[in-house]
Amino acid sequence: MEDTRVKRITETITAHPDFPKPGILFRDIFSVLAEPSVFRDLTDVLTERARAARPAPDVVVGLESRGFLFGTPLALALKIPFVPVRKKGKLPGELKQVSFTLEYGSDVFEAQVGNIKAGQKVLIVDDLLATGGSMKAACDLVTSMGATVSLCLVCIELGDLKGKEKLRHPFDTIVKY
Ligand code: PRP
Ligand code: ADE
Repeated sequence: MEDTRVKRITETITAHPDFPKPGILFRDIFSVLAEPSVFRDLTDVLTERARAARPAPDVVVGLESRGFLFGTPLALALKIPFVPVRKKGKLPGELKQVSFTLEYGSDVFEAQVGNIKAGQKVLIVDDLLATGGSMKAACDLVTSMGATVSLCLVCIELGDLKGKEKLRHPFDTIVKY
């Protein structure tokens, strides 16, 4: 039953005040990865939510770096490709890029041209939605490549920061604080 699994996931995520800067309450998803049965639950619930996405995704995009932890098992479960979106300077070849601001800084995302094709339906996955700057930037990057965002999927949404309001595409989360 999904409720039981979501309760276990919620209880397992730890919170660290004033990290990495004063005033930030850091929600640490790595506490879930340290509990294999809870990580299994989280991967299964993400997969079920992804299977409900319409239009059905034909590629999973994961955001560096914590999005890779959930995007790769999800792509395997769905039997579709996984494509990384990385911070500037880490991917070779021809790239598309987009700049964005974070809850505690700013950055540039890049994706390899050719890995995301025009007309594809993309599921974007990350560990957490805070201000929504990263997810919005990833949506802009994907759409600039001619693809469509089928679903923005995260493990944790920080509701107070209203990041969801920045998004113009379907959004789903497993845990909301
Ligand atoms: C964190 C988190 C999300 C993003 C959320 O990533 O993993 O990607 O911030 O914040 P936002 O909604 O305000 O954009 P971070 O840049 O810290 O990178 P990491 O995953 O490599 O730790
Ligand atoms: N990324 C951005 N804000 C965060 C937070 N409050 N906790 C964990 N990761 C984050």
